Amino acid sequence: MSNQKWVKIGKVAALKKKELQPIDIEGKRIALSFRDGKFGAISGTCLHEGGPLGEGSIRNDYVVCPWHSWQFHRVTGKARPGIPAAIPQFELKEEAGELYLNATPLTKAKHASHPKHPLEREIKRKPGPIRVVGISTTVMNKEYPRYSTSEALLQESLDHAKKNHGAETKLIKLNDLNFSPCEGYYSKSAHACTWPCTITQFDPKDELTEVYDAFVFWADVVIISTAIRWGAPSSLYFKMAERMNAVQNQMTIADRVLIRNKTAAFIVTGGQDNVQAVVGQMVTFFSELGFAFPQFPFIAHSRGWHAEDMENNVNYVKQSEFLREGARALIDRSVAMASDLIENEPMCKVVRGGRKAR
Ligand code: FES
Repeated sequence: MSNQKWVKIGKVAALKKKELQPIDIEGKRIALSFRDGKFGAISGTCLHEGGPLGEGSIRNDYVVCPWHSWQFHRVTGKARPGIPAAIPQFELKEEAGELYLNATPLTKAKHASHPKHPLEREIKRKPGPIRVVGISTTVMNKEYPRYSTSEALLQESLDHAKKNHGAETKLIKLNDLNFSPCEGYYSKSAHACTWPCTITQFDPKDELTEVYDAFVFWADVVIISTAIRWGAPSSLYFKMAERMNAVQNQMTIADRVLIRNKTAAFIVTGGQDNVQAVVGQMVTFFSELGFAFPQFPFIAHSRGWHAEDMENNVNYVKQSEFLREGARALIDRSVAMASDLIENEPMCKVVRGGRKAR
């Protein structure tokens, strides 16, 4: 009896009115439920990332966490069948129309062991030559690919990095990857947006891991190529960018900068104009991730507002030594910047200070 600590929660009649509700007992979050004539009380803090279970929903007698949908039995606290995990259960009793909870939990939390995701490893640059990743954001038919002007210039820059700077290079075409759009966990709560990305952790078929790995671990230089689509970068660029919330949000919730001493630069081509808006978006976004930029961090080409003859644009870019020279020079500047950052590590101590004027 010594480990019993009964605390009055409130009137039974009132508490019955909600199927699930969060309550606070002596600083402990509890998920109180009532269904089929029976109350249940379990810890209100999810085992996964601490989501508020009492603010979730109930499905088949399981409390569903509002953040990433982990499920725990509303009375016993046990996770769904097949998962050897549980959260603490609390005893309840009714007396004279009042509901009481024993604040000493009846059971203990039990974590199911699972291997760490590969992206959870320590962030440390491996010694070796400069590494350059090119990310093509061009959308095209996979079976019958077309000539992409921005991707061609990206390839030119990668070839130059390899041949003339001895760099290791990698080309990732987003069009070849199967990956889901961001599901908006950040919009539920900043802490619901996790590193590694929630989708990456839960969906083994999601292929954006390759891009996360290149950005956070492998690459010293990231070159992004995009078409101009109605005055903006390509749709695949935005699909990737939204998933990078998981990287940027670490600064917000954990004061953790995942990207340091890395360089980003851009290749933008399009039939019609708006280069400044496209590059403005990209530079702003990549600065928010923590990248640094070389002097003149982009090359761009457009035919202008009047041009509708895109077949001529393709021919123009194919034949333009001037643009290829620009792609090579972009690499020269980026590699020089990256070498400097690797050698001097100026951003090792940078915290998020100053961001959003805090
Ligand atoms: S499922 Fe509850 S915090 Fe992720």
